[in-house]
This record gives sequence, C-alpha cells and structure tokens, in this order.
Amino acid sequence: MKNTDIEKNLSKNNAGIAVRDGFTGGLGVILATLGSAVGLGNIWKFPYLTGVNGGAAFLIVYLLSTLLVGLPVMISEHMLGRKAKAEAISTFLKLNPNKKQPWWLIGVFGVVAAFMIMAFYTEVAGWVFAYVIKSLGNGIFSTDPAVTGAAFGSMISNPWISLGIQWAVLALVGFIILQGVAKGIERTAKRVMPVLFALLIIVVIRSLTLEGALEGLKFLFMPDFSKLTGAAILTAMGLAFFKLSIGMGTMITYGSYFGDDQNIPMNATKVMLGDLVVSLLAGMAIFPAVFAYGVEPDAGPSLLFITIPTVFASMPFGHFFMVIFFLLTSLAAIGAMLSLIEVPVAFLSEHYRMTRNKATIVIVGLLAAVGSLAALSSNVLAEAKLFGKTFFDLFDFLSSNVLLPVGGLFIVLFVSWVIGWNKVEKALTNNGTLKNVKLVKFYFNVTRYVTPILVLVVLLNGFGVFG
Ligand code: TRP
Repeated sequence: MKNTDIEKNLSKNNAGIAVRDGFTGGLGVILATLGSAVGLGNIWKFPYLTGVNGGAAFLIVYLLSTLLVGLPVMISEHMLGRKAKAEAISTFLKLNPNKKQPWWLIGVFGVVAAFMIMAFYTEVAGWVFAYVIKSLGNGIFSTDPAVTGAAFGSMISNPWISLGIQWAVLALVGFIILQGVAKGIERTAKRVMPVLFALLIIVVIRSLTLEGALEGLKFLFMPDFSKLTGAAILTAMGLAFFKLSIGMGTMITYGSYFGDDQNIPMNATKVMLGDLVVSLLAGMAIFPAVFAYGVEPDAGPSLLFITIPTVFASMPFGHFFMVIFFLLTSLAAIGAMLSLIEVPVAFLSEHYRMTRNKATIVIVGLLAAVGSLAALSSNVLAEAKLFGKTFFDLFDFLSSNVLLPVGGLFIVLFVSWVIGWNKVEKALTNNGTLKNVKLVKFYFNVTRYVTPILVLVVLLNGFGVFG
C-alpha cells in the first residue's frame, strides 16, 4: 500500500467528514494483529515456560488452550470491536442492551491489565534492546554462565540503567503510536514482520544444524505428562491469553479498526496459526541449541539473558547469530507494545475526546510511573513484596493468570448470552455474504458452553480449589 492511499483512507471521505482511523485492508489487518500477538510472549515467555514445565506436555496443553479458549475469545473480541467501531470501554457501553448491568467493567479491567503488562513488558523489552547493543561487543559473549549472569546482574541491579532503558522503550513506542493506526501501527507492522520472520528462520537453521540438536526437538515435541500440575495448566492457559493478546480489550480495539468486508473467523484463525508458527520457530531456535551444549532448559525468566548467550558463545559464528537473535526479539516486542498502549490511548482520545498527541503523552507518563515499580523490582524495590512477589512478578502473575482469563471469560459470556445468536450470525457472516454459517454456529456453541466452563475450571484448579 502506498502512503498516499493510506493518507486518503485516513483523514477524510469525499464529503469531508472526518473518518475514524483504521487498518487499510486485509494485509494490514493480518500483519497488525499478528504484530500484536507476536512478541516477548513468543520468544521470551513461551520458551522459558516450556523449559520450566517439562517441554512437549506443556506445549500440548497450550495448544488445546489456543484452540478451545484463545480462538473463540479472539473472534469474540474482533466482532465486538468491529460492531461498535469504538475503543474497548465504549464498545461495552454501546453494545450492552441492559444498561443496568455493568459489562463496561470488562473494559476497565482491561485498561488496568494493559498498565500491569506494559509495566514489566517495557522493562524486559529494555533488556532486549540493551542486549542488541551489548551483543555487538564482547561483554555478554561468554560460554561461562557466571560471566553472562554477572553481566545481566549488573545491568538489572542498577536502578538508573533499569529506568533509563524502560523510558527509552516507552519513548519509542509513544513516538510510533502518535502517528496513528494506519500510519503508525499498520505501517510499522508491515515493515517489521517480514524482517522478523526472516531473521528467525536464519537462527532456526543454525540451531537445527548443530550436532545434538535432536535432543532439543524431542524435548519440545515428545510429551511426558507426569510433569503436569494444576498450576502448570493454568500457566499454559494464561500464556495462551498473553500470547494471543486477548482478554483485555486489545483485540476489541484492533477489531474496531477492521473494515466491514473482513472475514473475522478466518482472520483470527490465520493470526492464531501465525503466532503458533512463530512460537514453535522460537522453540526450535532455542531448545536444539540449548541441548546441543548440554545446558539445562529450566532457567526461568533469565533463560534468554543468561543461558542463551552462553549457547551462542559456544557455537560456530555464534556472535553473528546472537546479534540477529536479539535484534529479532526487539522487533517482535515493538508490535506487541503498540497494541498494549493503543488500548488506553484510544480510550482517552475517543471517550474523553482528547487529541491523540495529548492522550499519548498522558499514557506514556503514567506508564513510566507504574512501570518504575517493575523496573526497580530487581534493585531498590527488591524487598518490597506483596503476596511474596516483587511488583515485577506480581504484575506478570496477576495479568496472565487472573485478569486476562477473567476478562476472557466475561467477554465470551457477553457475546454468547447477552449479544446472542442472531446478532452474532449477522456480524460473523457479514450479513450473510460469507458462506460460513455452519462454522459460525459451531464457534457460537463453543463460545457459549465450552470456553467459559474450561476457563472457570482451569482458573479454580490453578488456585488449588479442587485440592
Ligand atoms: N501478545 C504479546 C506477546 O506475546 C503481548 C501482548 C500484546 C498482550 N498485547 C497484549 C498480552 C494484550 C495480553 C493482552 O508478547
């Protein structure tokens, strides 16, 4: 798409009436949405959680969660957003037929979740950006985990560095979001996603051609169910929410930028599959290399920052591949952060009719304040704990394992019980122009019965309610 087309689409229609900003077409819809889904969730969280939770068995539970929970929630969110053509909170205000029931609270919790996620996400993104620069030198290039561990430790234990990189990330994200939906979010995704994909393939090929790579593939693809616990199942479902950017209104907001001709169930399926492919590629970049050099895969959140550099330092041409790896990870983080910050920015600018500039500045400022709590969790605030967790861990845990699943639960309940079949059928068949009624009916029944029960059971089970 040429810039002039985007510009035309963006500002005014022929009658001179201001048109709502939005994605310019099918490719833009897919890439922007995929750009939201693909992020640190795929390249940092998915590998370290799979590593900690025993590999393939966790992957299978994750897969089931994306199919039975993730996809229905994503379709529901896109549908709500496109129907209302409004940001997340206004969407519920507009579509709710019974004004006494406070469904808009889902949107409010979503904004809270966006802040919590951005708080730690921008910090991890800051580490990744710093590692792109560090990997050009020799500081983190060592086969000795004591050396890479010390390098990571000295970075995160310094409060000024921690705050500085987080604020730099926020400034970059704010700068892109200022340009709007088509010219900011969509244009960035169109540039970044192909590069990200190509770089990832390069690292995967390197990893798979190492001697001993097979062990890593076995770990990723041959399940051992003895390691699964109720908490791990909740973690897998929480990861599905996190990775697909669902449960908090990101996909409602993005859905509101879709054109009326878009095939929502088809788009969501493509995005789910694309996100899965990127996660599996990230797993195939990491585990074969980790196993080839006899390193343990269960390091947790530091897997990417302490373990992975030692693995790269061990392999031929490792320096080159390490730069590529951190570069692609930082690219992945950008699209995800744009979609997180867009939720509160769209809320302020639409609901309170603020200019986009002002809304962005307000939100970036608030995020810098809340985010500091996460940035300082590994230094000055290391001892400040709530429920035994630092702010960083608490934000991470509460968002993925509580707010997103609960948000998702109420979203599917709203769609299947409040909006109801007749309107869902119209919305998802594009008023009958798409010949997908059977599929839509099937999806509707899953959304009505299967998804809510599953989410509820997994949530309760994860918190040990069933003993
Ligand atoms: N999906 C992104 C990732 O995998 C993170 C993300 C972006 C997100 N927007 C979101 C998570 C909304 C939950 C909700 O990195």
